[in-house]
Amino acid sequence: MKFIKIILLILSIGLFVSCSINNPSKLRETQAFTQVYRVVGEDKVIVRAITNQASCPSIQWDNSPPSRLSTRVGAEDISIRINTDQVPSKFSVTTCEIEWPNGVSQANINGQTLKALKSNLQRIVIIGDTGCRLKASENAFQDCNSIEKWPFAQTIQSAFNTNPDLVVHVGDIHYRESPCPESREGCKNSPWGYGFDAWNADFFIPAKLLLDATPWVFVRGNHEACSRAGQGWHRFVDIRPWNEKLSCNDPKNDDFANYTEPYAVQIGKSSQIVVFDSANMPSKDIKPKDFSYQVYKNQIKKAEDLAKNKEFNIFANHHPISIVSPLKKDSSAGDLELKLNSLGMLMNNIKGESLLSSSFNATLHGHVHTVQAISYQFPRPISLISGNGGSALEDLKVKKINLSQSQMDQMKIQKFESFLDFGFATLDRQDQNGSKWLFTEYNREGKIIFSCSMNKNQTDCNN
Ligand SMILES: [Fe+2]
Repeated sequence: MKFIKIILLILSIGLFVSCSINNPSKLRETQAFTQVYRVVGEDKVIVRAITNQASCPSIQWDNSPPSRLSTRVGAEDISIRINTDQVPSKFSVTTCEIEWPNGVSQANINGQTLKALKSNLQRIVIIGDTGCRLKASENAFQDCNSIEKWPFAQTIQSAFNTNPDLVVHVGDIHYRESPCPESREGCKNSPWGYGFDAWNADFFIPAKLLLDATPWVFVRGNHEACSRAGQGWHRFVDIRPWNEKLSCNDPKNDDFANYTEPYAVQIGKSSQIVVFDSANMPSKDIKPKDFSYQVYKNQIKKAEDLAKNKEFNIFANHHPISIVSPLKKDSSAGDLELKLNSLGMLMNNIKGESLLSSSFNATLHGHVHTVQAISYQFPRPISLISGNGGSALEDLKVKKINLSQSQMDQMKIQKFESFLDFGFATLDRQDQNGSKWLFTEYNREGKIIFSCSMNKNQTDCNN
């Protein structure tokens, strides 16, 4: 009997080791695991921790006695939302949180020291569209196991090296929606679906360096809409308090959970980023009869009201409202147009070609997996598109768009810069109060590609 027990023990250890080697995220889940990070909202910073431990960690503010983080939401398995070929979303970690108190200069948690967010930021990292694309419906399978093919961790390292005070993720964090086909070595054994293991592989593991070091602002992408990774969005990175109706667990609440009221994050004494949730924006025109029409119309008004408070305002939403776009995927450099998306067209209906009031100096986006910086010959905020953080790049024939003066005049563009390779951007404050900023694009290795100084809604670029 004792002999049989020993054999069973050896077999079960063998099975555990074999499962863990084939699935590193499984191994991580079985070990003690806690990841601390900070999410920035309007006039608040929330310290969050995801953990597989029985209780939330404690935090010590300056020299005060430690206080324990509260449970935002516990570990749970969520059944399939609708009848699709998806798998249930398994969240094997508890999300914990606590708000950073006013006046506290540093905190200690889980062996880490966190410094308070500065009120007058010097450098902000912009990164977007970062996960590893696994999407069966488009036969798109990125090689998640290769840093060369999916360089998000490298981009994070290079961004970390710039020593930012804040990171802004412009959306589309989660990409692993389908299983990697057996025949594909490049993504073999990748977790997939909308649960923690895919979020961990797509985001928490590769972003760890900057999650440990720097507070983050999260702009919501279409990948974080309720029909996709919205459950993880609300559970992990949404700035709003936990609310079951915002959890995206029940599709009946989608009309509520797919939208967030705009909010402002101060980045300098005279400057702020107004964060706008366009996750559920339809790709076709938004018609007045559409549910989203009135929601977005009201939210644009609210964003405009927020912008009145500061001298320099950046409107940040995931989908580029104005972008230079090839007419077709295989277009040569000559077939380009300045295109408005459906939110841009809605803004155009309300405000005309300026899209937003003159309070806004720039708009910031991801979604299109490339980089563009555009200023215009007419009143319109500068467009900054930074969607090249790691997910497979746009498949365009033109690697770098060089516009001729006649093309610029035709599109009424004042200055234009672009880049089609992996990387990230920074915004650097150029004056005391933050009414002038420098946008710099870096490649994945941290080499500067171009920079554009921004003053009101005009740019001056160098490369
Ligand atoms: Fe997107």
